[in-house]
Amino acid sequence: MPTVDNPTEKTLAELGVNDAQGVAEKFAEVRTRFDRQVAFDADEIRSLMLHEAWLGSDSDPVTSLRNFWVGRKAGVLTMITENWLKKSPPSLKGVVGKQFNELKTHIETKLEEQRKRIEEKTEAAALNREQVDLSLPGVIRPVGSHHLIRQVFQEIEDIFFSIGFSIVEGPEIETPYYNFEALNIPEFHPVRDDMDTFYLELPKGAKTPLLLRTHTSPMQIRTMEKQKPPVRVIVPGKVYRRDNPDATHSFAFHQIEGLALDTDITFCDFTGTIEYFVKQFFGPSVKTRFRPSYFPFTEPSVEFDVSCPFCGGTGTAAAGGTCTKCKGAAWIELFGAGMVDPAVYGFVNYDAKKVSGFAFGIGIDRLAMLKYGVDDIQVFFQNDVRFLRQFP
Ligand code: DAH
Repeated sequence: MPTVDNPTEKTLAELGVNDAQGVAEKFAEVRTRFDRQVAFDADEIRSLMLHEAWLGSDSDPVTSLRNFWVGRKAGVLTMITENWLKKSPPSLKGVVGKQFNELKTHIETKLEEQRKRIEEKTEAAALNREQVDLSLPGVIRPVGSHHLIRQVFQEIEDIFFSIGFSIVEGPEIETPYYNFEALNIPEFHPVRDDMDTFYLELPKGAKTPLLLRTHTSPMQIRTMEKQKPPVRVIVPGKVYRRDNPDATHSFAFHQIEGLALDTDITFCDFTGTIEYFVKQFFGPSVKTRFRPSYFPFTEPSVEFDVSCPFCGGTGTAAAGGTCTKCKGAAWIELFGAGMVDPAVYGFVNYDAKKVSGFAFGIGIDRLAMLKYGVDDIQVFFQNDVRFLRQFP
């Protein structure tokens, strides 16, 4: 509840003032109140508003204070004019008028000073808030890096790109036709056992079964269907097999398929290209060799080996004893390849009499493990940053 009455609500007579001395005292009283209030900060005014009927109730305390003193309708100055000045006896009018003018000037000057003071304070606060400290260190965001598999893809792509191969990609969901038949792997062919794989559950009546591709070789067919020779492509990608996970097996892994076709590509071009790639990838000192092998879509088929890059092809570790990487064999099996089997050309309407070429299928995980000394394929899929950080 308000505790202090506002004397300007009464006439001087009602206040018991009837001489110049009394007038001066009343004005002094009002002025003292004003001086006290105008020196307050906003919070103090706010708490004052709770206790004194002197003050109004504007939401902004400074405005409230201002209105209370100089508000046109019911400000103190107006009240004094109405209740003291107009209603004073003629004998006191002169004194009241003089006192009033002095008070008015005083109040207006002080309020103006207060306004300036507050403005400056607000401005300084805003400047302070907006200040930018240029010496603060910036926010360092951790920058990721390519996964090792992606890096090895890139290395291999760069090597083949530099000798005129282009890079194509294909679907990870394939039809048996592209994954098997057109690659000369008919149903019930024994090599399908290795690739016994993930078939998709399809709605009844689907035109063809679908499976996760077991190798990137289907892209040989898709490329030949689209393109006439000369063809020189590599196909990086993910492949899937029903392998149980262990240190060297995973049900998802990565391959790069290669295919080069033209009218006069020989076995020499084939081995020369592969040897070039292997030396670029492992360094010039490694040796390569190939051994006869079997793939339904190449004839002849070979398995490429590289002399063990860890023991320099000696089979003996630097510290003595058997090299653990090649297990003393001096050679490491790298990947399968061969001259494209003419039977494949039949599926894509190529003239087997005119076209010849070679294909290869590189297991990327295996190559990455060999080159970077990774001994468990599973780490490629676990995304443990302690591993990934080792290959920035
Ligand atoms: N597709 C074979 C596999 O995944 C690898 C392969 C072997 C690809 C010989 C070829 C090739 O292109 O000529 O086991």
